[in-house]
Amino acid sequence: MQRASIAWRSEGRAIALIPTMGYLHPGHAGLIRRARSLVGRRGIVVVSIFVNPTQFAPSEDLAKYPRDLSRDRRLCQDNSVDALFLPSEESMYPGRITGAYSTYVTETCISQGMEGTSRPTHFQGVTTVVAKLFNCVLPHISVFGEKDFQQAAVIKRMTADLNFPIKIVIAPTTREADGLAMSSRNSYLSEDQRRAATC
Ligand code: PAF
Repeated sequence: MQRASIAWRSEGRAIALIPTMGYLHPGHAGLIRRARSLVGRRGIVVVSIFVNPTQFAPSEDLAKYPRDLSRDRRLCQDNSVDALFLPSEESMYPGRITGAYSTYVTETCISQGMEGTSRPTHFQGVTTVVAKLFNCVLPHISVFGEKDFQQAAVIKRMTADLNFPIKIVIAPTTREADGLAMSSRNSYLSEDQRRAATC
């Protein structure tokens, strides 16, 4: 990935990264379109798909997180994505289970409170993986959804604090016709829960 990005950069092409955990939906397509509008036709739009284990607590839904790579590939092709980055867990966190991997990135202010209260290790996992994806993909721009409002604020702060030369763009939430924010995890909802979710 780095070799490809270095080559694109040497040709003067702007690179935009949309980090995702896959199971893509029209909200992601909106982020992809925003990225394309920012880098132009000569630019490179990269989507990463990686279900990041470090942002899930042991009690959370890592194993059952929805996955459908062939559908994701189609959505990327239909939206003219230039590259799909699919790192393996072992390449992102070599030896994490045995303790050989030991470096994490922690934002210590905005990540406290709100979602950070119920998910105390979540944002450290997010900042760690996003910093790593930035170093793999070497983008000029990275686009995130406003739906994950605290995450967007944490990532902006981390990017500034660690001097990543990357413009962070926050794109508006895409909603279902009845107002529910689109989310991969909406697939967990039963019919009753789906109806109640708009309250
Ligand atoms: O918002 C997400 O899908 C994830 O938290 C992210 C930013 C891709 C990091 O794994």
